[in-house]
Amino acid sequence: MTKLRNEGPIGVFDSGLAGLRVMRAISDRLPREDIVYLGDTARVPYGTRSAQTVVNYAHACARTLREQHIKILVVACNTLSAVALDALAGELLFPVLGSIMPNARAAVQASSSKRIGVIASSRTVLSGAYPRALAIQDPEAQVFVQAAPLLISLVEEGWLHGEVPRLAVREYLAPLAQQDIDTLILGSTHYPLLMPLIESEYAALSGKRIAFVDSAQAAANDVVRQIESKQLATARADPGKLRIILTDLPNDFQMASRFLGEDVTQLKVSAVDI
Ligand code: DGL
Repeated sequence: MTKLRNEGPIGVFDSGLAGLRVMRAISDRLPREDIVYLGDTARVPYGTRSAQTVVNYAHACARTLREQHIKILVVACNTLSAVALDALAGELLFPVLGSIMPNARAAVQASSSKRIGVIASSRTVLSGAYPRALAIQDPEAQVFVQAAPLLISLVEEGWLHGEVPRLAVREYLAPLAQQDIDTLILGSTHYPLLMPLIESEYAALSGKRIAFVDSAQAAANDVVRQIESKQLATARADPGKLRIILTDLPNDFQMASRFLGEDVTQLKVSAVDI
C-alpha cells in the first residue's frame, strides 16, 4: 500500500500557467518524481474574485487532481493558499502544501532589517494571510503589503517587456520603495517572470538593492522537506514524467514554455472540464 502510494505523482495546481515554474522547480529538485500540473486557465485570474468563489474553484481543482491518484498536493497559487488551504487540508487525505508560509519563512531568513514588503493579488492582500504568516515566523517583522493585480494579467498574456509592464511595475512598487524594506516577497507565481523589471524599477525608485523571495524556489524547498519527512519518495530510478492538465487550451499555449523553461509541446497536455 505504502509502495503504491509513493509511486503516485505530485499534484501541483495554480489558477493559470505561471505555476509551471513551480512544477519546474520541484522537478529540478526531485527529478525522479512524476508531476501532474493542473492550470485553471478557464478561470484565471482568481485574485479578483470573492473568497467563496476561490474556495469553490479550489475544491473542483483538488477533486480533479485526486482522480490522478496524487500523493501530495502543492497549492502553487498564493491566492488559493491564502483563502482555501484550510478548507482543502480538511477535505483531502494526502498532505496539502501551500505557498504563503514557505515564502514567509524564506523572507524572514533573507531580511536583516525585518522590514518586509509583499506584492500579491487583491484577494491575497484582502485575506491578510501574509501579515499573519510573517507574524508567526517573526513577531517583530514589519510588513508592507501592496496589491499588484494587473501584473498577473500582463504575465498571463506574455507581456513581459516594454513600457506597459515597466510603468505598471513602477506604479505598484512606488509605495513600497518609501518604506525602506530590505526584502520583497513576490507573492504570486506570476511575478518572477517580471523579475528584471521589478529589480531595476525598485532600484531606480529607492536607490537600493534588496532581496526577493520567489514562490517557486520556496515551494520546491518545502516539497523536498515534506517528501523526505513523510517518506513519500518514489523508489523508481528513471526520470519522472511531467503532465499538464488545463481547463482551457490557450491560443498561444507555446508561450507557456517561458514558465516551464522547456518546450511545453514536448509534454503530454490534456484539457478537462471541471
Ligand atoms: N498564481 C496566482 C497567485 O499566485 C495568481 C492569482 C490570480 O490568478 O489572480 O496568486
